[in-house]
Amino acid sequence: MTELLKIENLKVNFRTFEGVTNVLNLESLSVAKGESFGLVGESGAGKTTLAYTILKLLPIPPAFVESGVINFEGENLLKKSEGEMQKIRGKKVSMIFQDPMSTLNPVFTTGQQITRVLQHNQGLHKAQAKKRAVELMNLVKLPDPENILSKYPHELSGGQRQRIIIALAFSCGAQFLIADEPTRNLDVTIQAGVLQLIAELIRETNVTVLFIGNNLELVSLICDRVGILHRGQLVELGSIKEVAKHPAHPYTLTLLRAIPKEKREKIDLTQIALKAEERLAEKGCRYAGRCLKKEKICLEEEPALKHIGGTHYIACHL
Ligand SMILES: Nc1ncnc2c1ncn2[C@@H]1O[C@H](COP(=O)(O)OP(=O)(O)OP(=O)(O)O)[C@@H](O)[C@H]1O
Ligand SMILES: [Mg+2]
Repeated sequence: MTELLKIENLKVNFRTFEGVTNVLNLESLSVAKGESFGLVGESGAGKTTLAYTILKLLPIPPAFVESGVINFEGENLLKKSEGEMQKIRGKKVSMIFQDPMSTLNPVFTTGQQITRVLQHNQGLHKAQAKKRAVELMNLVKLPDPENILSKYPHELSGGQRQRIIIALAFSCGAQFLIADEPTRNLDVTIQAGVLQLIAELIRETNVTVLFIGNNLELVSLICDRVGILHRGQLVELGSIKEVAKHPAHPYTLTLLRAIPKEKREKIDLTQIALKAEERLAEKGCRYAGRCLKKEKICLEEEPALKHIGGTHYIACHL
């Protein structure tokens, strides 16, 4: 298995009025060529921060990278200049952002935006770019391409806008795709169609994927392997089968139980709800504050990821 992305000892912090907060603390995470890796965690876990760190799009300040290496094709992205990153973004690594409205520019038609990207990233002439834009609309199954391309983003529905973003992400043939909760702002019926489209495009293009989500079941539809992120740290890692069928970390168990089912179980919300004032403890497990099973050691020592069988790892003392 060749690793396309390999992250080591990555620490990313934000400087705020209350002091420095650690938002990401990843000992090791790699994505193999051709793999679809899912990153799942609650709001504020640091998922978007990781995506932005890889693409060097973090707002610096208040963010800063304290330490770490992000190797992409064996080269450390954190050492790249802005000029070098511009040649990587879009062409080698592309991203579907969380919010389509902030990705698309409201003052240009979708056609103008897509052709501009194709001219800039692919070096196409205007006429070639327009032709390719129509092909891309067909690729993402948007009927009546010319009409869609003549519209401003606000004239389209949420689902149509997200398909445009997906078309942009696949437009330049990047070998690595970061999809940051691409269906978060869509209602359930539209979500299914958009997810199906992404799954098809991944299969057809053989692209390597980092798929970010907050719902393990949705991520399971797309990914081969998954990592559970909790307050900036990986607490569980394994194949979809291992993690979704045999979750081992108490946080993963609670995350899975929080997904509504036909037969609702009563869950204790204190295990899942992070209190706004809850700051990171100086030591111990970051989940200990909410964990019902915690013991003395959990408050004293930070657990490291340990192997529990197959390709399955968890960071838990118990
Ligand atoms: N500009 C900022 N200044 C200070 N803290 C920030 C800033 N942006 C993000 N953070 C903090 O970083 C942490 C991680 O945020 P991030 O957006 O990466 O979370 P996320 O996992 O993507 O959440 P969501 O599911 O809501 O998108 C949060 O606790 C957030 O408060
Ligand atoms: Mg996010």
